[in-house]
Amino acid sequence: MIIAFWLIFEVAFHLDVADGHDHHHHHHHPRVIITEKDCAVRKHTLQGTHSRVELLQGPRHRTLYAGGGGRLFYLDFREHDGKEMPVFNCSNSCSRNISSCDYDITLLHECKNGSALFICRTDRTTPVCCSASRETGFCDECHPEKAVAPVSVHERAPSLYVGEELYTTANMVNGGNHVGIRRHYGHRVSIWPSDNVTEQNYVALVASPRPNKIQDRIYAFLVQRNADQHREADLWVSLVTQVCQADLGGPKSFLQRSWTSHLSALLSCGIAEKKLYFNQLLDVAVLEQDIWKDSMVYALFSNGWGMTAVCVFTMGDIDYVFTNSPFKGYMGTVPHPRPGTCVEDSTKLPQDVLRLVKDHPEMKDWVRPVNNSDPIFISHHHQYKHIRVDRVNSSLGDSYHVILLTLGSGRVHKVLEQDGHTFVIAELRPFAYCCHIRNVLLQPHTKMLYVSSSSEVVELDLRSCQAYGPRCEDCVMARDPYCGWNGTHCAPVTSSAIQDVKHGNPQLCTQREYVPSIPQKVKRHTAHFLSCPMLSTHATYIWYHNGTKVESLVTDSLCLLLIEAMDTSMAGTYRCNASEMNYAKVIVEYKLSVESKAQGLAPKYLLLYLLSLTLSSMLPQDL
Ligand SMILES: *[C@@H]1O[C@H](CO)[C@@H](O)[C@H](O)[C@H]1NC(C)=O
Ligand SMILES: *[C@@H]1O[C@H](CO)[C@@H](O)[C@H](O)[C@H]1NC(C)=O
Ligand SMILES: *[C@@H]1O[C@H](CO)[C@@H](O)[C@H](O)[C@H]1NC(C)=O
Ligand SMILES: *[C@@H]1O[C@H](CO)[C@@H](O)[C@H](O)[C@H]1NC(C)=O
Ligand SMILES: *[C@@H]1O[C@H](CO)[C@@H](O)[C@H](O)[C@H]1NC(C)=O
Ligand SMILES: *[C@@H]1O[C@H](CO)[C@@H](O)[C@H](O)[C@H]1NC(C)=O
Ligand SMILES: *[C@@H]1O[C@H](CO)[C@@H](O)[C@H](O)[C@H]1NC(C)=O
Ligand SMILES: *[C@@H]1O[C@H](CO)[C@@H](O)[C@H](O)[C@H]1NC(C)=O
Ligand SMILES: *[C@@H]1O[C@H](CO)[C@@H](O)[C@H](O)[C@H]1NC(C)=O
Repeated sequence: MIIAFWLIFEVAFHLDVADGHDHHHHHHHPRVIITEKDCAVRKHTLQGTHSRVELLQGPRHRTLYAGGGGRLFYLDFREHDGKEMPVFNCSNSCSRNISSCDYDITLLHECKNGSALFICRTDRTTPVCCSASRETGFCDECHPEKAVAPVSVHERAPSLYVGEELYTTANMVNGGNHVGIRRHYGHRVSIWPSDNVTEQNYVALVASPRPNKIQDRIYAFLVQRNADQHREADLWVSLVTQVCQADLGGPKSFLQRSWTSHLSALLSCGIAEKKLYFNQLLDVAVLEQDIWKDSMVYALFSNGWGMTAVCVFTMGDIDYVFTNSPFKGYMGTVPHPRPGTCVEDSTKLPQDVLRLVKDHPEMKDWVRPVNNSDPIFISHHHQYKHIRVDRVNSSLGDSYHVILLTLGSGRVHKVLEQDGHTFVIAELRPFAYCCHIRNVLLQPHTKMLYVSSSSEVVELDLRSCQAYGPRCEDCVMARDPYCGWNGTHCAPVTSSAIQDVKHGNPQLCTQREYVPSIPQKVKRHTAHFLSCPMLSTHATYIWYHNGTKVESLVTDSLCLLLIEAMDTSMAGTYRCNASEMNYAKVIVEYKLSVESKAQGLAPKYLLLYLLSLTLSSMLPQDL
C-alpha cells in the first residue's frame, strides 16, 4: 500500500519534470501568503459541527443565511450579529410529523420572487421542505418532499430556483431510479427524467436565459461513470446536459412528463500533445456577460494523477455543439425540428424527434474550451475543491478576471487570469487552524468572499490590500486588480491609483521610498540576529554586510541573519535586499556597532528561538 502511494508520487513527480512545467511552478506558487492576522477577517461561529453548510445571500449587503445540521442562521457581518432562525425549531409546530431534531439542511433558496426562503432538510429517511418568511424565519408550509431534496446529507444534488420553478438533480434515489434533472412547482407540469442511466454525480445547475424566452435553457454539469470499460479508459467522464425551460414533456403516448429536450455532450479539458487529460469535473463557476453566448463557464477538473486544471467554455460553444453536432450512434437524417430545439409546445413534437431524443441523446462532438485552448491553469500539487470567478475593473478601466480556488486544507488561492495566462496573487488563510472548506459564496457587489468550515463562516474582504506591504512597489508588484497605491497606502483601487496588473512593474512608483539605516549597538561577544520580512515568495532575499553577501536563515516569513558573537569585524552596514523580476530593492538596513560590556541575549536562547522559527516554518503547508 505504502509502496503504491510512493510510486504514484514518484511518477507524478517525474511527469512534472518531463512536462517542462518547471518554469511555471514559480508562478503557480502563491506570491504572497495572507493569514487571518494580516487581514480583517470577520467570523461567525455556527453552533455545532455541520457536514454540509448551505449558504445564501441575505437581504442586505454583507448578510447571509447559513444552513447547517438542522439549523438556519442569519448572519450580519456589518454588525457582527448572528441569530438562529426558528424554521426548524423543534417545538415550532410547522412539521408535526418529525419529532426528532436529528436532521440536516440540504437545500436553501430564495423563492416567491425573493420574498421567502425555500428550505429542505433530511433526517436520512424523509426529506421535508418548507417555505419560510425571510424576515422572521417562521415557516408557513412544510411538506415531505422525497422528489425534491436529497435523502442523504452527503449527496451534492445541486438545485436552482428560476422564477417560480425549482430544478433539482438526483444522483441516486431508491437504487438509481430517475437519476437526472427534475422540475417542480410553478405553472408548468412537473418533469422527471425518463432514463435509468448509469451512476451520475451532479456538480452544478446553471440557467442560461436568452432574449427569446422560449429558448431559455438549463445546463447541468456532471460526472458520469464511463461506459467505456476499456482497461485504460478513465473511470469517469464529465458532461454538460441541456434542457429547455419551456419543455412540457411529450404527448400521453411517449415521454409524458419527461424531458423532450434533454441532450448531453462530453467536456474536453487537457493538452492533447502531452496526452494530459482532465476527466473529472469538480466544480463550475459562471461569469455572466451582456451577450449570453459570451458568458463563460470556468470549470475545475482533476485527473487520476492528483493534478487539477481550470478550463473555460463559453455558453455559445456549448450551445453550438447541441445545435450542430451529429447524434452519437445515429446515422439517419436528423428530423425537423432538430431534437433539443426549444419549442412552445413539446407535447406536439413529431414521434421521430422524440425517438431520437430518447435513443440518442448524446452528442458526437465534444465541447471544447474557448478558442480550442489548453487549460488556463494546471496545478500539479494542489487539491482544489471549489472555484468562483469575479470580474474586477482596474484603475485604467479595463476588466480582469480573478479566480478563487479553495484547497482541501482550508486555504484559498486568489488567481489573476489575463489572456489565458494565470498568476497566483496570494494564498489566503482565513482559518487559524486547518479545516475543510464546506462551501464558498462570492458576493461580487461587495467583493466579499464567504468561506465556511464545519463550524464557522468567515468573511474575507477581497480588497484587503494592506497585506501586500507598506510601499508602493509592494502594492504594484502584487498585481492584484482589486488594489492600487493611493499615494500613502495600498488600498482598494480607484481610477487615480497606481497599479500595473499586466506586468507588475514597480518602476511606475515615482516616489522612491527611503529606507532608513537603523543604528544598533550590540554588546561584544553576545549573539544577535537581524530579521528581514519576506513579503513575496517569488523574491530572493539576501543579506549583505558592508556590501558582501552573507549567509542567512530562512523561515516561513523571515530571512534571518545570525551573528554568533559580536566583535568589531561584525560591525558595519547590514542590508537586506529583495530581488524579483529583475528588480532589486532594500527592505531593511541596520548599522551595527560594538558596545563594549558583555551581556544581552545568550547564544543558547537565541539558537532556541531560531530553532522554533525554523520548525514552525517546516509544518506541512497543504494537508
Ligand atoms: C422555539 O420555539 C419555542 C416555542 O415556540 C420558543 O420558546 C423558542 O424560543 C424557540 N427557539 C428558537 C431558537 O427560536
Ligand atoms: C404527517 O402527519 C399527518 C397527520 O398526522 C399524516 O396524515 C401524514 O401522512 C404524515 N406524513 C408523514 C410523511 O408521515
Ligand atoms: C418579481 O419582482 C420583480 C421586481 O421586484 C417584479 O418586476 C416582478 O414582476 C415580480 N415577479 C413576480 C412573478 O411576482
Ligand atoms: C432502474 O435500474 C434499477 C437498478 O439497475 C432497476 O432495479 C430498476 O427496475 C430500473 N428502473 C427502470 C424504470 O428501468
Ligand atoms: C478567442 O479568440 C478571439 C479571436 O481571436 C478573441 O477575440 C477572443 O478574445 C478569444 N477569447 C478568449 C476568451 O480568449
Ligand atoms: C466596470 O466597468 C464597467 C464599464 O466601464 C461598468 O459597467 C461596471 O459597472 C464596472 N464594474 C464594477 C464592479 O465597478
Ligand atoms: C489611502 O488609503 C488609506 C487606507 O485605505 C486611507 O486611510 C487613506 O486616506 C488613503 N489616502 C488617500 C490619499 O486617499
Ligand atoms: C565592515 O565595516 C565596518 C565599519 O566600516 C568595519 O568595522 C568592519 O570591520 C567591516 N567588516 C567587514 C567584514 O568588512
Ligand atoms: C540592493 O538594492 C539597492 C536598491 O535597489 C541597490 O542599489 C543595491 O545595489 C543592492 N545591493 C546589492 C548588494 O545588490
